[in-house]
Amino acid sequence: MSETTLFTPLNLGALALDHRIVMAPLTRMRASQPGNVPTGLNAEYYGQRATKGGLLIAEATQVSQIGQGYPATPGIYSDQQVAGWKLVTDAVHAKGGKIVLQLWHVGRQSHTSLHPAEGLPVSASAIACSGQTMTAEWKQVPFETPRALDASEIPALIQSFVDATNRARAAGFDGVEVHSANGYLLEQFLCDGSNHRTDQYGGSIENRTRLTLDVTDAVIAAWSADRVGIRLSPFGIFGSMSDSNPQALFRHLIGELAKRNLAYLHLIEPRAGAAGGSDVLVEAPEVVAMFRPDYAGPIIGAGGFTPASAAVEVARAGGADAVAFGRMFISNPDLVDRIRDGVALTRYNRATFYGGAEVGYTDYKALGSVAA
Ligand code: PHB
Repeated sequence: MSETTLFTPLNLGALALDHRIVMAPLTRMRASQPGNVPTGLNAEYYGQRATKGGLLIAEATQVSQIGQGYPATPGIYSDQQVAGWKLVTDAVHAKGGKIVLQLWHVGRQSHTSLHPAEGLPVSASAIACSGQTMTAEWKQVPFETPRALDASEIPALIQSFVDATNRARAAGFDGVEVHSANGYLLEQFLCDGSNHRTDQYGGSIENRTRLTLDVTDAVIAAWSADRVGIRLSPFGIFGSMSDSNPQALFRHLIGELAKRNLAYLHLIEPRAGAAGGSDVLVEAPEVVAMFRPDYAGPIIGAGGFTPASAAVEVARAGGADAVAFGRMFISNPDLVDRIRDGVALTRYNRATFYGGAEVGYTDYKALGSVAA
């Protein structure tokens, strides 16, 4: 049997891929205002990065207004947003690529200015994130203390993920990814540093994993398990996260997810502790290796991979089946070709990651393209 490479085909549920280089979900804060609507420029960006049989995971996209955490991140709760996303999915499909939408609710990592009519951000418990966040006016301010969701509000919350799934499908996406990572709402319920509840959504590991599993099951019921992935960040600290026993927590959750025949499980290696906010890798457990025995289905690994380490990852026993690249996909629209050809990568400019227009977004050149 020949060795698995980044160019060995792979099925992630219903997604038949020709290679294993995935574009990670990347916040870019370039949706049009008002309304947080994807645009033709966004479609150009994704289209530039699409490849035949390649998977792109679209940026984190709020399922509701109160689920928004930063200015100009796109949503998937209005008809205009569906029409905007259709431009994106058409551009990706025109190149034979696949694209799934990441469904996002930031919980306490929000700010009232982003949804004045709805008031304070919501979370598992009324415990604030430490540090600063950004208002609707792009100003840095301390995080607010969120309001704890009442159990009676959970069905509507789950329904917002279902509605988002139905809209994603209508917008032409090939699937959806449930964002249960990086200190956002679903992870705020998972971890006991942010969840002090005493109802059926707090306390035991079974109770703290309930919301993520209920959302996942509802999204599966709305579409199909083989079109649903989920992203987790065990041992991650982004968003002031902490848990008293992350290994037991995530072993239980991943064991439960394993029963659901999802398209994929997407794990962020905690060495990339700042969710892409820093280039420094920290000493941390290897979570793909840790949880591989608990999950027989396809796993996407992410966080601080290089082309060389990604090739090792997919070839080794107990490694991920595919590898997601974020920052390198920002500055190399032709990343897949460059990895295949062993060509050097263009360095990214962090100053243009968030906000703005085409500069640092659609103006990175593919090799062989004529400079503008
Ligand atoms: C961010 O906008 O900084 C961000 C968004 C989603 C993540 C992580 C970071 O999962």
